[in-house]
Amino acid sequence: MAKLSIARLSAYARPEAHLTKQTSHGAIVTLVGASLAIFLFLNELGYFWKLHRVTKMSVDLERRHDLNINMDMVFSAVPCAVLSMDILDVSGTMESDVNFARGMNMHKHRLDSKGKQIGKAEYLTPQSQQMIQDGMGGGMMNINIPQAMKHLTEMEDEEGHHEGCRLKGNMVVKRVAGRIHLSVHQHQIFMMMPQLMGSHHIPRVLNMSHHIHEVSFGPHYPGMVNPLDGFERIIVRGKQYEAFKYFIKVVPTEYYSRLGRVTETHQYSVTEYSSPIPADSPLVASVDIMYDISPIVVTVNDRPPSFLHFLVRMCAVIGGVFAVTRMTDRWVHWIVGKVVK
Ligand SMILES: *[C@@H]1O[C@H](CO)[C@@H](O)[C@H](O)[C@H]1NC(C)=O
Repeated sequence: MAKLSIARLSAYARPEAHLTKQTSHGAIVTLVGASLAIFLFLNELGYFWKLHRVTKMSVDLERRHDLNINMDMVFSAVPCAVLSMDILDVSGTMESDVNFARGMNMHKHRLDSKGKQIGKAEYLTPQSQQMIQDGMGGGMMNINIPQAMKHLTEMEDEEGHHEGCRLKGNMVVKRVAGRIHLSVHQHQIFMMMPQLMGSHHIPRVLNMSHHIHEVSFGPHYPGMVNPLDGFERIIVRGKQYEAFKYFIKVVPTEYYSRLGRVTETHQYSVTEYSSPIPADSPLVASVDIMYDISPIVVTVNDRPPSFLHFLVRMCAVIGGVFAVTRMTDRWVHWIVGKVVK
């Protein structure tokens, strides 16, 4: 019976040691081949580690949570007491900074006429209005007159000192089109009952010059750009006052980091308009930020290509170099043999 052993399956027959011979030109070819293999290996490794950002777009099919807005803006000519902030959206939300707004986590810091912060504490707007729900879907506005009077005095006082205000914080709003309305407090109650005002007056502030430190909709990821950050609009002396409008399209974005961690956030694009306010018009100054949610979701993927793929390429590189080197070695051996003869 023929000797059938597993060794017969080997594709690599080993010559006996006394039949092999090492030559110096063979050594040179081996060294060159080895360096080439190392060089190509490092090159592949570098390619594997390099950032491969892939951006994809698709229709947003998920039901997502509420929208988180981060804001940090400086109004150099509007005192904190005068600056009003309302959020309105198409689902019927109407929140204001004088009515115990729940989703708002905004803080006001008073700035002196030079732009330096006054004190450490934030400015707390007197809460003069409260919606009383009547349990049948309706509501009634309850106005706290002492708080409104306090607010009025503070408005006059801060305006007299040419104060400014830094508005900073975040708020959670519904995922529908809406508007952040920044303007000056009007206090309807004093319009209805002017006798309450006595010798006070409501300051008329028209200079809504502002500097935007940040407007963003969710956490940051590497390479994210918020187009409004650092934006500034100043109404120079002698020019007409203006009301500003920003129209923002919020684009849901999912970011996958290198290690596969997901960050759910939003990018946005913005267009900006302003309209003049004639000096004798009853219009009030304002900055409106209208936002709307895009139905398209963007996926930004920083994950590297698969490791198995990398292994396949590695084998191809090393095997290829090995084969080429062997071929070269044979040629070199042949040539050397001819020359020596
Ligand atoms: C509006 O306020 C800005 C910032 O304080 C100031 O530079 C500018 O001169 C003011 N404009 C007018 C018309 O008062």
